[in-house]
Amino acid sequence: MKAKAGVGVLGVALLAVLISIALSTWSRQPATAKPSEQPINFPHNVHVEQYKIDCQYCHSEARRSEYAGIPSVTRCMGCHRITAADRPEIKKLTEYATKGEPVPWVRVYKMPEFTYFPHKAHVRVGLTCQECHGAVEKMTTVAARTGPSPVHDALSVVGLRGNAPPLTMGWCIDCHREQNRTKDTKAPLDCVTCHH
Ligand code: HEC
Ligand code: HEC
Ligand code: HEC
Ligand code: HEC
Ligand code: HEC
Repeated sequence: MKAKAGVGVLGVALLAVLISIALSTWSRQPATAKPSEQPINFPHNVHVEQYKIDCQYCHSEARRSEYAGIPSVTRCMGCHRITAADRPEIKKLTEYATKGEPVPWVRVYKMPEFTYFPHKAHVRVGLTCQECHGAVEKMTTVAARTGPSPVHDALSVVGLRGNAPPLTMGWCIDCHREQNRTKDTKAPLDCVTCHH
């Protein structure tokens, strides 16, 4: 009896340690991701996976413009005037709202100026956001690509982060070729459509 209870206590203690490690990696700020530090620690996973908010509710320009767009503070405050209003990260958000300033989000995906990438064509043809941006719904920070992924966390620990989707010319062209071959699309392969 006594031995059994001992194992039980040990089991509970072990479980508690594992949970606290899991929680701390979950909420951990990206260690070396300097350029990806955001002014507010906005968790995509909470909004998309837990609360089922559609990508395009926030990135509402994606299907009609060149840009996907980042939601305004007003849009955030639609929920956060009340939701979690007492949390530190939401207090920061409220501060921007009160000052009437936009949140200075750090840009993550950026093509050089001499290229033309329109979201509209890609979203309308039925590509998912994830095909190019990865599993954003699992990320705590888009830039750092952290989040509850044991493999990724292990890599982070030894100083390696997963690669961002390769935003190279070859990446664009490979997909254009592939799509034109397998589907009835006319994705451009000529220089001037992407460079003007
Ligand atoms: C509740 C609003 C909200 C929802 C829902 C949302 N996002 Fe975001 N997204 C943001 C905000 C705010 C940022 C800027 C902060 C950041 O980069 O984390 C952002 C940033 C991004 C970025 C990086 C932009 C850059 O700077 O290059 C990508 C890519 C992105 N979101 C994709 C998605 C995808 C895909 C989904 C659905 C799976 C989604 N988002 C759902 C609010 C949202
Ligand atoms: C449709 C409603 C909705 C919108 C719009 C929304 N959020 Fe949220 N947000 C939530 C909910 C629900 C939670 C989870 C709160 C909880 O844990 O109880 C949350 C959690 C958060 C958290 C984590 C708070 C914490 O520390 O636990 C942050 C930060 C946040 N939101 C920022 C934003 C920002 C920035 C925007 C605008 C880009 C935004 N939210 C738009 C509903 C929303
Ligand atoms: C075919 C690949 C592709 C698809 C599909 C795609 N994106 Fe993007 N996204 C990009 C590239 C490339 C950039 C950088 C564009 C630039 O710098 O001109 C970008 C930039 C962004 C940005 C930051 C700047 C901006 O445009 O406002 C956000 C936010 C974003 N994408 C969200 C989304 C969402 C949400 C979806 C799905 C509705 C989506 N993307 C679908 C490739 C893609
Ligand atoms: C995952 C696949 C995929 C990737 C990656 C991709 N594209 Fe495309 N792109 C397409 C498809 C499919 C079309 C054709 C849409 C159609 O026929 O309506 C297209 C169309 C376009 C068009 C034509 C738009 C128009 O209005 O006709 C441009 C410009 C373009 N892509 C630029 C880029 C650039 C630049 C990149 C890299 C940064 C890129 N694409 C990456 C699949 C992709
Ligand atoms: C589908 C879109 C697309 C097409 C078609 C395309 N490019 Fe590009 N190109 C890009 C993108 C996106 C970049 C930026 C890539 C980067 O920063 O790594 C780029 C970069 C370049 C660069 C800078 C060097 C480099 O490789 O980064 C040159 C030069 C260039 N392109 C020339 C051309 C020429 C010449 C053609 C026609 C034969 C062409 N491109 C066709 C999208 C395209």
